[in-house]
Amino acid sequence: MAGRIPDSFIQDLLTRTDIVQLISERLDLRKAGKEYRARSPFTNEKTPSFFVSPTKQMFFDFSSGKNGTAISFLMEYDRLQFVEAVEELAKRAGLTVPREGGGAAEKLVLDGPLDALAAAERIYKAELKKSQVAIDYLKKRGVSGETAKRFGIGFAPDGWDTVASQVPEKHALEAGLLVRNDKGRVYDFYRRRIMFPVRNLRGQVITFGGRVLPGSDDDRKYLNGRETPLFDKGRQLYGLYEARQGTGTIPYILVVEGYMDVVMLAQHGVVNAVATMGTATTREHLNLLFKSTQRVVFCFDGDRAGRAAAWRALEQALPEAYEGREMLFMFLPDGHDPDTLVQEIGADEFRQRVLAAPTLSSFLVSELLSQAKPASTEGRARLVALAKPHLGRLRDGPLRKMIVAELAKIARLNPEDLEAGRAPDAAAADPGAASIRTIAARPVLRALQLLLEQPALATQVGDLEQLARADAPGIGLLMDVLEYFREHPDATAARLLELWREEERGQALVRVAAEPLELGEDVVAREFGDAIAHLAQKGLKARAQALLAEARRRELTVAEQQELGTLSRHLSGAKPV
Ligand code: UTP
Ligand code: MN
Repeated sequence: MAGRIPDSFIQDLLTRTDIVQLISERLDLRKAGKEYRARSPFTNEKTPSFFVSPTKQMFFDFSSGKNGTAISFLMEYDRLQFVEAVEELAKRAGLTVPREGGGAAEKLVLDGPLDALAAAERIYKAELKKSQVAIDYLKKRGVSGETAKRFGIGFAPDGWDTVASQVPEKHALEAGLLVRNDKGRVYDFYRRRIMFPVRNLRGQVITFGGRVLPGSDDDRKYLNGRETPLFDKGRQLYGLYEARQGTGTIPYILVVEGYMDVVMLAQHGVVNAVATMGTATTREHLNLLFKSTQRVVFCFDGDRAGRAAAWRALEQALPEAYEGREMLFMFLPDGHDPDTLVQEIGADEFRQRVLAAPTLSSFLVSELLSQAKPASTEGRARLVALAKPHLGRLRDGPLRKMIVAELAKIARLNPEDLEAGRAPDAAAADPGAASIRTIAARPVLRALQLLLEQPALATQVGDLEQLARADAPGIGLLMDVLEYFREHPDATAARLLELWREEERGQALVRVAAEPLELGEDVVAREFGDAIAHLAQKGLKARAQALLAEARRRELTVAEQQELGTLSRHLSGAKPV
């Protein structure tokens, strides 16, 4: 495995890259105010809604919903992997990409853990042949010899050193086959388990899942592989390699929960199922699946937990939903999993149920309706509010338009009002008061927006401690962003986003950055000052309330009494924003 690319290098690379220059080599950019504009390269739109911001060093495509940095642009437009995009930018800047821990020596052992895993597969298969309990268990579950062979199912016997005694320790440790305890003793990670090898798309074994045999004292039914340089559970799926084995197009891929579900579905002829391994479906999983098929079917239990899991999957899936990608949400009858259901009703009936499953849009709309009762005006207002974040995550396009149209009909609004998030029957808005209302209602969001536009504003914030006390959603994120830009006042939004690329907060910020800000520089600074003052005021209030609460329990110290006095004067003297 080559070492990780250091964050500091990516920061440096982005400082030396001009996104406007980069994109203008590929698209016809026209100046539009402070930004540059073009027709979206990702959809075939007629009116340009693709923007490049030189200050943020980001691009925003309102047509496809793709937004990001220079690195993201190369990933999307040139279809590069992250590392390839970094290498491409480095080449332009005349730099070589450094690797943490040095690259060369590691290359030589690249195959070490893969070899260890291949050896383990052979060992576990041989052990299965020798173990009558394991064979009996698989027979009882209905697994045929042919199926066991197709998936390379094996058995890890009850000892501590089945693998440890046969595979070089260094590589087996790296592969997650062995563990080392506190005392330094190294032993087999998988014991007394039916073993399911997990393969990458080239068919190489990258980890194992293991199911315990009944009557074991280990109460973990399944052990998923630990994350290693070869195995990232957020990016790999059990059964995908096997599902791609057949020829021709794959009409759909079914995403189920368990190893046994994948295996038993295949045995009954539903050969296109995959399972996540101890994690919910990620966006990376989805992108991987859509490289193999046009339709992904999520399979969930029919109970409340199953519907909640489906809803979480839907939220992950929204940004990945667009034309040419269909997603269905299938719910199983109570008490069944795919394994038991396919055994009971057979493959044909099972397939029919798969294809009759609700689509993403109908599942979204029906769930929203179950949360908001649209019979009343209040219910319809609630529907609009509930729908808004979800619509925000969907890319522009026919699918989104259809969902908006359907929700608008139910809410009795026209689609534009629904988009604007206007509540039904709301009084006409006063555009002059708009920014003040934004500050009062969402001061954190406003401050973030302005800060991403002009990072140097961070240095103007005085009392961070006061601000941090403000009781406002998102205040933690704002504090993090302030802290970064105070240390790097000349950085751009793009640099911070690359630092947080893999994190939830990075994705949240991309969405904030995408909201257009048509303000002059002085207005940006003034509005930022207002938003911060508003939050600091909230911080003062929170501190005063905390002191008053204390005062009810005990006598305040002299210092605290003085602080409270100062706070009260500030609070009564200050103008509300
Ligand atoms: P289930 O507990 O639903 O089991 O786990 P199953 O697949 O129906 O198993 P059988 O039929 O009893 O053999 C579904 C998935 O959840 C994860 C595993 O990925 C498993 O395949 N899981 C479950 C764990 O990670 N750990 C556990 O202890 C149990
Ligand atoms: Mn099961």
